[in-house]
Amino acid sequence: MTGRLEGKAAIITGAGQGIGEAYARRFASEGARVAVADLNDENGERVAKELEAHGAESMFVHVDVSHEESTLELARAVHERFGRIDVLVNNAGVYADLEQRNDTLDYLKFVLDVNMIGPWLCTRAVFPFMKEQGKGKIINQSSSAAWMYAAAGFAMRPESESVGSFHYSMSKAGLNAFTHFTAAALGQFGINVNAIAPGITMTEATKKQVPEQMLGMLTMASALRRTLEPEEITGTAVFLASDDSDAITGQVIPVDAGMIMLG
Ligand code: NAI
Repeated sequence: MTGRLEGKAAIITGAGQGIGEAYARRFASEGARVAVADLNDENGERVAKELEAHGAESMFVHVDVSHEESTLELARAVHERFGRIDVLVNNAGVYADLEQRNDTLDYLKFVLDVNMIGPWLCTRAVFPFMKEQGKGKIINQSSSAAWMYAAAGFAMRPESESVGSFHYSMSKAGLNAFTHFTAAALGQFGINVNAIAPGITMTEATKKQVPEQMLGMLTMASALRRTLEPEEITGTAVFLASDDSDAITGQVIPVDAGMIMLG
């Protein structure tokens, strides 16, 4: 049986750990050639080597998604190796090391640079190649935090009199808008742009960032009354990367155990 992404060349940013690593593994198992792109060389190289050991074609590319030249180099290197770029998954983000209580202007700009402007830079970098092909799939990694006050960091410190910066939630809300606008702009070139908004996914980053008590509260606030494993997000990514989703663009799909829809 052939995989659903047979022969496709995919870039997955932030694929050195967590959900991005799960995406990389699943894409490879579906027949894709995967460029593992990450700021963390050790993790990225490990994942790429493991994929190759399982018979997949893979490469590691060091990238800082918030740095324009670095994103251009990423696209060039992947195109040179694979001959095409079919899929870009903008998954990299400031999450594991997120400083929830840091509401300085510099930090707000840093988070927006990586989480929101990073996907814009990566999209700009792959665009010429996808345009040339007349087809491409871009998948942005949003979050339920785009809609949730409780996840905005501010709610966890009611004693504060600061305005707050809501950096993480703002970056993901901006990414949703970016998804809509780029889908509108790039549709004419056969490029589909969609987003996945995961709920509480039990990566090491979540275990570090979300306190037990809040985990319990958020779990009870979801229809399925449970958290998610990284592997559970991958099926939606495969669908959005595959030809099965050719008629879908500009959508933000929550994969969140039914949390956002409950409000
Ligand atoms: P994580 O923090 O474990 O992984 C993020 C990855 O991005 C790391 O490998 C890191 O090295 C990389 N990265 C960070 N900054 C980078 C940069 N400037 N350039 C290139 N790579 C960079 O997070 P996790 O849990 O795997 O989440 C992955 C994505 O999913 C993030 O965008 C996160 O915001 C989003 N998300 C996660 C949820 C969760 O519950 N785990 C829920 C909703 C969204």
